[in-house]
Amino acid sequence: MLQSKELIRDGAKVGDAQSANRPALELRNLVTRFPGDDGAFNIVDGVSLSVAPGETLAVVGESGSGKTMTFLSAIGLVPRPGKVVEGEILLDGTDLLKLSEEDMRALRGTRLSMVFQDPLTGLNPVFTIGDQIAGVLHAHRKLSRAEARQTAIGLLEKVHIPDPHRRIDDYPHQLSGGMRQRVLIAMAISLEPQVLIADEPTTALDVTVQAQVLELLAELREQSGMAIVLITHDLGLVARYADRVAVMYAGRVAETGDAEAIFERTAHPYTVSLFRSVPSLETDTASDLLEIEGQPPDPAALPAGCAFEPRCYLGHGRQDCQTTRPALRAVGDSSHRAACLHSSEVITEGTAE
Ligand SMILES: Nc1ncnc2c1ncn2[C@@H]1O[C@H](COP(=O)(O)OP(=O)(O)O)[C@@H](O)[C@H]1O
Ligand SMILES: [Mg+2]
Repeated sequence: MLQSKELIRDGAKVGDAQSANRPALELRNLVTRFPGDDGAFNIVDGVSLSVAPGETLAVVGESGSGKTMTFLSAIGLVPRPGKVVEGEILLDGTDLLKLSEEDMRALRGTRLSMVFQDPLTGLNPVFTIGDQIAGVLHAHRKLSRAEARQTAIGLLEKVHIPDPHRRIDDYPHQLSGGMRQRVLIAMAISLEPQVLIADEPTTALDVTVQAQVLELLAELREQSGMAIVLITHDLGLVARYADRVAVMYAGRVAETGDAEAIFERTAHPYTVSLFRSVPSLETDTASDLLEIEGQPPDPAALPAGCAFEPRCYLGHGRQDCQTTRPALRAVGDSSHRAACLHSSEVITEGTAE
């Protein structure tokens, strides 16, 4: 729909031969539950999604929709007293839920890495960035001090930090926000993970620096064939960088598919509302908050039917929407799926525009 013309594809997709069609990361019916005053409730409520080697999956949705919790679940870092209680987390075919805590710890950072929104919280202020990168290398790779330092300089070069021989001895506060985010990315990729999860990696940065960091991620992905999960509320970034998209609402996937399908044949009213809440890709800055009328539901008190029904321009007040919880089902091509009882109306409306 609206922004389809601006949908720019960055380069050819990597049709990697090594692991055929196996996703780098696949979540199957993942449920993460927290105890509450009125009984346990699900913050991640049956999420299925996958990302292939060399592909970027954007995960979008308003604040509180469960994006972060889904991927904290995937890397085994759900805050207590939450717990993954159902589903599978397949990393290149291995179910991570079956691993011991120790194996999971060894795997975090090495095969599956995550970078977060605020580059300061990820860095320790009392150590130089060189020591912090070398620390990761030393812990996992048993490199000597000199080797680790040399490798760290190489990594800083790779993430385009100017003058890395000098910068390596800087403390985090001596670097700009954008440079700190590059350091975190350098740490996250230092052990060549198969999957990099970037949780709002540029939200704290200004627009120019944002673009540079995302270009960097795209470049690293192309070099290494790693899969990237880009968690964002910025649809401009989605159009520019994502191959595929998963739209989340209330701990569930509302719509998923190729980026092109999501933009051009939008099939869920929530996705439509997200698009409408972005003034235009040019003027959008990542700090703009999405504003759809009403509030997302409390995960402890989800409605019986569709979680979006109370705010939905199409389904509000409809009895079937109030009583039936819509499952994700195919709309159009096989990988495009939406959890809406009336997705055909949404699609028709979109093409009529
Ligand atoms: N440690 C926690 N304990 C209980 N609830 C939490 C915790 N962290 C987040 N939540 C709740 O989980 C829901 C999803 O949060 P989150 O995954 O952070 O959303 P998003 O990343 O999409 O903004 C929200 O309702 C949030 O309030
Ligand atoms: Mg989040």
